[in-house]
Amino acid sequence: MTPEQRERYSRQIVFQDLGEAGQERLLAACAAAAAEAGVPCFVAMEQWMGCGVGACLGCVVPAAGGGYLRVCSEGPVFAAEALDWEALAR
Ligand code: FES
Repeated sequence: MTPEQRERYSRQIVFQDLGEAGQERLLAACAAAAAEAGVPCFVAMEQWMGCGVGACLGCVVPAAGGGYLRVCSEGPVFAAEALDWEALAR
């Protein structure tokens, strides 16, 4: 096995393990891997929604620069760097 193959397979194992850990932790791992590789990454967030029009703040996710983003009206797709992954993975 070449070093490149070993690296590729080891990453697959990490992602299989994270598949059991929930959406936020899996997306956080994907965002980190994309950032490390210098690849643009966009994520589709899932949240329970109350109003669906941006009024109730029931669907917010933590933003990278502080504050929150509304999944219903500002998402559901976000650039990975727009989100606070440490807060989301807790
Ligand atoms: S569901 Fe109410 S603000 Fe998003």
